[in-house]
Amino acid sequence: MKRFLFSFAFILISTFLMGQNAKIEQKITKLLDQMTLEEKVGQMTQYSSFFDVTGPAPSGGDNKNKYDQIKTGQVGSMLNVRGAKQVREMQKLAVENTRLGIPLIFGYDVIHGHKTIAPIPLAESASWDMEAIQRSAEVAAIEAAAEGLNWTFAPMVDISRDARWGRVMEGAGEDPFLGSKIAKARVQGFQGDDLSATNTIAACTKHFAAYGFAESGKDYNTADIGTSTLYNIVLPPFKAAVDAGCRTFMNSFNELNGIPATADTYLQRDLLKGEWGFDGFIVSDWGSMIEMVAHGHAEDGKHAAELSANAGSDMDMESHVYVKHLKNLVESGKVDIAHVDDAVRRILRVKFELGLFDDPYKYCDEAREKELLYNAAHTEAVLDMAKKSIVLLKNEKNILPLAKSGQKIALIGDLADDKNSPLGNWRLASDNNTAVSVLEGMESMSKNTITHETGVQLYSGDAFFHQHININTTEANGIGKAVEAASQADVVVMVLGEHGFQSGEGRSRANIGLPGMQEELLKMVYAANPNMVLVLMNGRPLAIPWAAENVPAIVEGWQLGSQSGNAIASVLYGDYNPSGKLPMTFPRDVNQVPIYYNYKNTGRPGPKNEVFWSHYSDQTNAPLYPFGYGLSYTTFEYSEPKVTTMGRTADVTVTITNTGKVAGTEIAQLYIRDKVASVTRPVKELKGFEKVVLEAGASKTITFKLTEQELGFYNNQGKYIVEAGQFDVMVGTSSADTKKVSFSIK
Ligand code: GLC
Repeated sequence: MKRFLFSFAFILISTFLMGQNAKIEQKITKLLDQMTLEEKVGQMTQYSSFFDVTGPAPSGGDNKNKYDQIKTGQVGSMLNVRGAKQVREMQKLAVENTRLGIPLIFGYDVIHGHKTIAPIPLAESASWDMEAIQRSAEVAAIEAAAEGLNWTFAPMVDISRDARWGRVMEGAGEDPFLGSKIAKARVQGFQGDDLSATNTIAACTKHFAAYGFAESGKDYNTADIGTSTLYNIVLPPFKAAVDAGCRTFMNSFNELNGIPATADTYLQRDLLKGEWGFDGFIVSDWGSMIEMVAHGHAEDGKHAAELSANAGSDMDMESHVYVKHLKNLVESGKVDIAHVDDAVRRILRVKFELGLFDDPYKYCDEAREKELLYNAAHTEAVLDMAKKSIVLLKNEKNILPLAKSGQKIALIGDLADDKNSPLGNWRLASDNNTAVSVLEGMESMSKNTITHETGVQLYSGDAFFHQHININTTEANGIGKAVEAASQADVVVMVLGEHGFQSGEGRSRANIGLPGMQEELLKMVYAANPNMVLVLMNGRPLAIPWAAENVPAIVEGWQLGSQSGNAIASVLYGDYNPSGKLPMTFPRDVNQVPIYYNYKNTGRPGPKNEVFWSHYSDQTNAPLYPFGYGLSYTTFEYSEPKVTTMGRTADVTVTITNTGKVAGTEIAQLYIRDKVASVTRPVKELKGFEKVVLEAGASKTITFKLTEQELGFYNNQGKYIVEAGQFDVMVGTSSADTKKVSFSIK
């Protein structure tokens, strides 16, 4: 009976939704039939904000053009306008002045929180906690929607293996399986179940595609990769986002194998809109259309518009080439009107789904804005997310957790009392100095005597999203006072790492050690008092071999957002037992980059007692900390895994025991290796993980299910295949610490 009722309900809901969709399509068709070509091109044009909409109209220049074009129906979307009042004023320009009153859609980079800032996405990914990640995106959507926004340019799902690239902070690390789960969680968090609700926003999966494979980790650089890497590493998180119902995509600045993504017909039309059935719309990245002239792919702006429109780029973000050339390109037959109609249909579809045609001002409620921004429940959510994102890298002599009283603490580092850097790079809507610092967090949670010394300044001058940071590489006057404080203390807590604007867009680094004078400070303070805990605050994996070798305790504290200091203090004092696992390999040396866990075995694996194998003569192949690595204040033991196969599926069972003295959470990981395949497979691939909470002494048996979905791969024709043969299965606490069993399928 239950099954019948469930099926009946499913059929009812599906029928209702199909009916709703049919109604929207009818409305779109009716509107399209009324629209002039100029108005259609207008929907495909997006501008960035240009003035305080509650103030006077801009006079002259580009901003005056944008203002006038909004009023004459030549603009479909704005970005970087926020605030219920501001958005309402901007929306009125379109709705009350244009012939058809088509509402604008307002986009913004709501990447990891909006006013209440969550940990940077790379940090959230270290939690491996899909519920917490989804909740984090929900909170971001609630606050963004309260400020009048209905569309975010997130999640960024670019897989990367290169810590030199500044945008690793924005993604989910190096693995496509983990990255796909996180892409789904973020899309569902932003969009919820009802896109027309005033607490959800349309997501935008980006950057399509392969932006994370920019050569040498240099932002915007060429990406040239083989089909196996494209299909098996780069594309899966994008496909997961489509399957999760993501309503928009953003293409990328880079060229992929010689073709700028904005003009890549295969990626955008054949694969995304064709094979994957994506029915939302694609926005170009900022200026990426006109940048095809610099790429050497387009003659000029008009040619860029032609290439982009024919390749399936539906909306032009700030290249101004559609508004200038697309009408003429259609009239001269260079762009088929069907491409324009398809693009406009997709854009209008999302606007209808957002409810903007029912009420263009539904997101512009100042009372709701006042009630929801910085809401207490949001603070709680980002604190929970931050705690789960912290990774314990080392804890010898059990220095951690610290006592809450009776200890003299020397807290050293410029970042220790920094209330901005923990907000990370993509903190556009946040307010200054709104992060809880480590100093504040520690003081609020203990009765210890805490002496803070900066030691060395990390940077001088101002720090803004769009300008270089002047890192201090010469001035070390404060080291003496830091050394003095350390010599008087029972325990030293160092907070070192990167400023929030040392990672992110345009922020690639050729060296990935501790910036500036921090390493020198670390060594001199350590010499004074080796009883030390190092807290890292960074937006990328750092190569810190000296610290890893010498400092007894190391905590990866990332950039954890508004509640950074409280989360870090909770871990330092043991209120929260750290459970994070690295989503990206930490190199020992930048010269090992790109370095990642799912590498190929090559024909000359090692180590061997000779020179003729794949290695360096002056550096080990091993990373500093491997993918999936993270310690706890307790210990866990794994039984030998057991496997039972049924046809082309396998159940893998393992028992995990908490062998320590305190409760803890373990993220058990399952990797496979397809031993022989028509396209070589990596030495291991993550295909399952499970968070297990265990009291001291308790055990839990878990079973991973492997199906063709996990056992197959994409061949060089982009076809998903599963081949008979032997598989190794490895289960354990990190990619480098597992127990193995094998099985075969026919
Ligand atoms: C930027 C970024 C993109 C962002 C867009 C709008 O250049 O590449 O991720 O969403 O422009 O700010």
